[in-house]
Order: sequence, then structure tokens, then C-alpha cells
Amino acid sequence: MNKRYLDITDVGIEFDTSGKKFRALQKVNLKLDKGEFVSLIGHSGCGKSTVLNIVAGLYQATEGGVCLDGKEVSEPGPDRAVVFQNHSLMPWLSVYDNVALAVNQVFRKSKSKAERKAWVEHNLRLVNMDHALDKLPGEISGGMKQRVGIARCLAMQPKVLLMDEPFGALDALTRAQLQDSLMKIQAELGNTVIMITHDVDEAVLLSDRIVMMTNGPAATIGEILPVNLERPRDRLELAEDREFVHLRQQVLEFLYAKQSAREPTVAASAAVVETTSPKLAAVQAGAPPERPGNDFEAA
Ligand SMILES: Nc1ncnc2c1ncn2[C@@H]1O[C@H](COP(=O)(O)OP(=O)(O)OP(=O)(O)O)[C@@H](O)[C@H]1O
Ligand SMILES: [Mg+2]
Repeated sequence: MNKRYLDITDVGIEFDTSGKKFRALQKVNLKLDKGEFVSLIGHSGCGKSTVLNIVAGLYQATEGGVCLDGKEVSEPGPDRAVVFQNHSLMPWLSVYDNVALAVNQVFRKSKSKAERKAWVEHNLRLVNMDHALDKLPGEISGGMKQRVGIARCLAMQPKVLLMDEPFGALDALTRAQLQDSLMKIQAELGNTVIMITHDVDEAVLLSDRIVMMTNGPAATIGEILPVNLERPRDRLELAEDREFVHLRQQVLEFLYAKQSAREPTVAASAAVVETTSPKLAAVQAGAPPERPGNDFEAA
């Protein structure tokens, strides 16, 4: 069978929570081409982060597997960088040093000191944060922190950028600005991206395809909606574009008519607290990499 750049095949996962099995995902199949931007959307608790964490190598699938560029994913690695909703910068390091840490880990052998410095500055320029190189995370806004987190991931030149509600915690204006920056950067660099979002407009605006997940337990992909709107995309023009409105409507219909919301069970919610992966917790907290050499907020 012809392999795609990122190949998620028949992935399922069953969590063992206090002796009880909980099946979160079943038969998830998704193939991405290089340079594709795919959004994952679905009700809270359906399994979006779990899919992302499996691709990141932070969770081990019970069935099926993930291949990236022909190589099976079995553990975290710098070829998959993760941007979380709550930026996980090292609070004691400056903006520059937060990005430099990742750059030094990934490019210690392949770039000279001067090249690495230029690369850190270049990536911070991409997200318009080159004016604040010496600031500490505590001295910048949430949106700015998120920009630094994105710069850090971009600077690692991952094969795939995994974003878990990257703009979820931001106000609407900052969110719009960052969406525009991300579209520009992606047009320039051709990153392959999987982004989780709860925001229907964001999904339509940014994506080449929107992957809509069914409710759990045993969640899977319900429908995949191709978004063939021309790029570059302008949010103001699109607001009245018929195709945009139609796509938006299709996503809403899936979410609210075909898959109505359901409260997660108490058992399932409690389970997360008990069994959250230590690897994931460490990465989300911005901990240094477990393995020598490379992964910093990388998965
Ligand atoms: N480590 C874990 N141990 C046990 N159950 C888990 C674990 N991680 C996730 N789950 C369960 O798997 C299901 C999917 O969780 P997941 O975090 O992937 O949902 P989500 O779609 O990302 O939700 P949200 O939109 O609220 O972030 C939930 O029922 C959750 O309780
Ligand atoms: Mg989630």
C-alpha cells in the first residue's frame, strides 16, 4: 500500500484506570501529505488530545500505529514538536534562551554557534517577538508567550507540528492575529500541521481538511471535510464568502446535529487524573527532555 507522509492506521487505545478498561479511541485512520494543514474538531472528551499524544509518541496506542516519513513512531522525538494550549516556557529563561535551548539541543552538531544564534533570532522574528529577546516569560502577555512557544517549535524544524488548542486561552483579537501569523508562516515554510481546535471559524480559515471526531467512548473519525478555499485567505473577505459559510455550516451540523454534546462520565474524568502519562505531564510542564540530545517540548 502506498504510504503517506504521516500515516495513522487503525489506531485504538484502551486506558487501564484503577483496574477498569476504558476504550477512548477505535480504528482511527488518517493520512496526511507533506505540507498539509489538518484540524481536529469534536466535543470535549472525545479523544482529540489522545490522538495527538499518540502521534507525539507520548501515549502508546493499544492497536494500530503511526508512521512519519516512512518511520514508525514509538517514542517522542524532535521530528514532532507540540504546541500546547498553555505555553510551557521555562519561566527562569529569557525569550531568547527558551528558543535557544531547543535549537541547541536539535542543532548542536549541525550548526555553528553563530548559525544557531541567527536561527533563534530568525524564528522569533517570524512570530514578531524579536523585540523582546531578553524578557522573561513572566514579563510578557499570554499571546506573546504563545508566540514564543510556536517559535520554539518552528525552530526545531519538525516534520510535523502538533498543536493542541494553541490559541484556546487567548482573547479574540490576539487569537485572530496569531491565526494570521500562523497562516503566513505555514505558507512560507510549508509545515505539516495537525491542530486541535474547538473554534469552527478557526478550523475553516486555517485548514486544508477538517477532521471531525465522533463522541467517545470508542471515538473515531466521523467525517472529513476538505476545505478548498483559495490561499492566501483573508478573514474579512471570507466572512461573507458563500463557500466559507457553507463549510462552517457543515461543521456545525456535524457537531450539533449529528454528534450532540455529552457530559463525560465521572469515571472517565477521574481516570485522567489518576493515569495521565508521566511523559505528557513532564512535557506540558516544560520539563527538560528525558532522552539526551534532542526533545524539548518535542514529542
Ligand atoms: N491518561 C488517561 N487515562 C485514562 N483516561 C484518559 C487518559 N487520557 C484521556 N483519557 C480519556 O480519554 C477520553 C478522551 O480524552 P481527550 O483528552 O483525548 O479528549 P479531548 O477530545 O482532547 O477533550 P477536550 O476537548 O476537553 O480537551 C476522555 O474520556 C478521557 O477521560
Ligand atoms: Mg484535549
